[in-house]
Amino acid sequence: MTTAKLNLNGNDYEFSVVTGSEGEVGIDIKSLRSASGAITLDPGYGNTGSCESAITFIDGEEGILRYRGYPIEELAEQSTFEEVMHLLIYGHLPNASELQSFEGKLQEQAHVHEDVKQLIDGFPANAHPMAVINALVAALPGFESDASDDEQDIIRLIARVKTLAAWAYRRSAGLPYVASAPGLSYSADFMHMMFGSQGAKPSVSPEVESAINKLLILHADHEQNCSTSTVRMVGSSGATLYAAIAAGIGALSGPLHGGANQAVIEMLDMIDKDGGDHDKYMAMAKDKSSGFRLMGFGHRVYKNFDPRARILKRSADSVLEALGVNDPMLNIAKQLEQVALSDSHFVDRRLYPNVDFYSGIIYRALNIPTEMFTVMFVLGRVPGWIAHWREMRLDPTTRIHRPRQIYTGSTKRSVERLSER
Ligand code: CMC
Repeated sequence: MTTAKLNLNGNDYEFSVVTGSEGEVGIDIKSLRSASGAITLDPGYGNTGSCESAITFIDGEEGILRYRGYPIEELAEQSTFEEVMHLLIYGHLPNASELQSFEGKLQEQAHVHEDVKQLIDGFPANAHPMAVINALVAALPGFESDASDDEQDIIRLIARVKTLAAWAYRRSAGLPYVASAPGLSYSADFMHMMFGSQGAKPSVSPEVESAINKLLILHADHEQNCSTSTVRMVGSSGATLYAAIAAGIGALSGPLHGGANQAVIEMLDMIDKDGGDHDKYMAMAKDKSSGFRLMGFGHRVYKNFDPRARILKRSADSVLEALGVNDPMLNIAKQLEQVALSDSHFVDRRLYPNVDFYSGIIYRALNIPTEMFTVMFVLGRVPGWIAHWREMRLDPTTRIHRPRQIYTGSTKRSVERLSER
């Protein structure tokens, strides 16, 4: 067995080395503090493995992403979101009867308690739908009358978040709520609740259904990113699935994470309105004092093309063509990408377009309003969060997540009287 050695203050310590199934190497430092009194310091966790996981593999150098061993390209082309959800959560692609049962349960559980409508109605119409969906998911257990059961909660949450996401939009648009329709796929049912009418026959086109299906698959998991780590962190305390996922939604909302998809379109719009002057914005992105970054570019793990961005770029072309949409944003995005990929600031730092760069252009073509983009990310990411939460819960070695710190504050002192301060 390989080991790693550390010499600290003249003392030698030895640690075992863990190797993953794709050859990734980790030094197991679980005994470091009890043996040496020291801890590791890794702000932003760029070098810290928080767990062992069998769900998703990323090779950031090569631009590879696989769910349970299956390449993202194959899943995006050949699978339904329901199959991918089953794959992520239960570890294998479902056979025909497993799929039928899974889809049936999701359809049965898509209804939400009638009183939840009052909660949604209580939000101002201009509330951001991410704030609404975050609050609704946190509130859901308050509306479930029977005892909590992990496997049941998983189905309920996946099914109901689709209804809640669509209703968050209906509220913001001042439109009446549309109930889930039986017999539709997850993607088609969501679009029916977004844009259909109560009682009318659902009429989601196959092109639209397929575009949503692909987007949801591409967002479904991404190993220990900020929101997934948040879900694991909150779940490690024994909090409910709903509490953990609500926390994940909060983490995802930030512009450096899922909120980037909204920020990209706002940025492209700003560039367009400003006369399409890429150079000005490139200069700002390179100047740290400007506070401006090229949204949809860069990634902690990918130092090569994000494979999801590759698929989405192609998909943007085909979806816009299939729907007969001509969106000038697509050209602005492509031009900006071209300029960035030949600029030394981006080349030297290996900054490439990420998943958020082209997704918004597809959402726009599907009539999804900009403020709903990050909610779409939530819909896609819920099964990934759940898969990690479940993996953690089923692991008997899980302990509450509780990092340490290096304290840099004042040493002991006494409280001064008010007159002396
Ligand atoms: N525009 C300009 N410069 C950038 C950008 C960017 N988008 N991203 C990174 N850099 C520079 C950064 O200034 C730094 O330069 P230097 O080495 O001179 O200090 C270097 O590249 C490394 O950046 P970092 O901030 O240390 O990298 P990180 O791994 O901490 O952050 C990131 C990753 C995704 C937060 C960052 O690249 C970023 O802010 N991108 C824009 C926001 C975005 O698109 N987020 C979506 C991420 S993918 C989907 C998701 O996670 O939800």
